[in-house]
Amino acid sequence: MTMDPPSPARVINRNLRDMVVRNGCDIGVIGLGVMGRNLVANMADKGFSVGAYDPWPEALASFAESEAVGFDGVETAQSAEALVALLQVPRMILLMVKAGEPVDDLIDSLTPLLEPGDIIIEGGNAHYEDTNRRARSLAQFDLHFLGLGVSGGEEGARHGPALMAGGSPAAYTRAEPLLTAIAAKAGDEPCCAHLGSGGAGHFIKTIHNGIEYAVMQVIAEGYVLLRDGAGLGHEAMADVFREWSAGGLESYLISITADILETQDDLGGGPLVEKILDTAGQKGTGRWSAEAALAVGIPAPTIAEAVAARSLGELRDMRLSVSRALNGPPLAPPADAKDTVKVVGDGLRGAAIAVYAQGFSVISAAAKAYGWDTSMAAVARVWQNGCIIRARLLDDIAAAYQAAPDTQNLLTAPTIASGLNHTLPGWRKAVGRAIERGIPVPCLSSALAYVDGARSGRLWTNMIQAQRDCFGAHTYERIGRPGTFHSWWGNTNLHK
Ligand code: 6PG
Repeated sequence: MTMDPPSPARVINRNLRDMVVRNGCDIGVIGLGVMGRNLVANMADKGFSVGAYDPWPEALASFAESEAVGFDGVETAQSAEALVALLQVPRMILLMVKAGEPVDDLIDSLTPLLEPGDIIIEGGNAHYEDTNRRARSLAQFDLHFLGLGVSGGEEGARHGPALMAGGSPAAYTRAEPLLTAIAAKAGDEPCCAHLGSGGAGHFIKTIHNGIEYAVMQVIAEGYVLLRDGAGLGHEAMADVFREWSAGGLESYLISITADILETQDDLGGGPLVEKILDTAGQKGTGRWSAEAALAVGIPAPTIAEAVAARSLGELRDMRLSVSRALNGPPLAPPADAKDTVKVVGDGLRGAAIAVYAQGFSVISAAAKAYGWDTSMAAVARVWQNGCIIRARLLDDIAAAYQAAPDTQNLLTAPTIASGLNHTLPGWRKAVGRAIERGIPVPCLSSALAYVDGARSGRLWTNMIQAQRDCFGAHTYERIGRPGTFHSWWGNTNLHK
């Protein structure tokens, strides 16, 4: 096999790296599972020297067999002490271990080995409050801490993830050349940014995952509407998703759905997706995302609904019992396929806009509440490539925030609102068709209700005020008359 000669940039990188290796590795990576080892390979591929270690001997053994060890400049350490000794000072160590207790245990064991000015970067899916706590506790020892949201799965880790950094700006400045080199690119721009202090990076990764949950759920609902509402076969559905993914719905999640729909079961008998149990696990970031929205008082109903839909999936026995007890609507003949494809496509586009609007609103409110100097345009740029929720829509979102950085809700941005207006008639039809047929579409319908609520100049909340005042004398405010009021509401007597 002939190999191309290394590019001049690669040769310069190697020469630079050889100089650096003599003075110690650029970075240490602890945790050599698939994500960790692919990040090591990505860093080495970009010319950085990397010390690698895993406290788990099996992981070290499998790392020894991996592509990463084949790169010059990758050195494996057999203990944390040996890893620390390999690194140039001030040291930079990336932790890629399971979120939760293992991170705290590792930090506890590393802290005595490090010196003031060293940087620990945590790249797991951590809860942002844990990141805040870890940053505070390491600051006592003059150690820097960066909470780094990493998205893109194993492929992303190897060839360019989206990176959401939070924590000390000084530490970020030091890590920036390496992080931007390994990150995905959107045009010439790296999909990597410092998005605020403390737990900002992990918070934003959590909201990324909340959006991921909701968009996945919306797509899954669209698939069932095409299959059961219009009777489309899997090849036809794959074609529809391919067509969507070449148009306004272009996104990673739409394109993998086309791949999934055309994959046949190796064991025979048709499309593999129909052989999969209708339950899916969850590791918690979707729930954290919904909780974070509640904590800052910003509605993100479609994200919460997607988490509930996952939980409903897991309650299979309950669903099977209830399915025997409750009736659905009478069976309807398949709806017109061409029209269903059109209205479901509108629904998917509209719901995606609503979901991103919810996620970005939560981030913007959290940044204000927690004092982060987060640039919303930078969040959109970081998500434009490398991550699971990358989508053409993010180009419009980035442009909207660049034009008006203080945008409170994306639905107020003219280009976003005009795109959304085009989807609404079809989207309403899609949801109506699902409801008539008894096909559950919790996220398509909740996103539509969110949009209808957001565009309502007058909501139902006057009735809520009246009810609160009626049963609890909580008082109410009146239109056009300042002050608070309390009334005697007819003959109602709760204690009668
Ligand atoms: C990513 C993914 C990644 C992971 C999810 C899965 O951005 O690369 O979001 O973080 O695939 O955490 O989450 P669940 O297991 O909860 O679906």
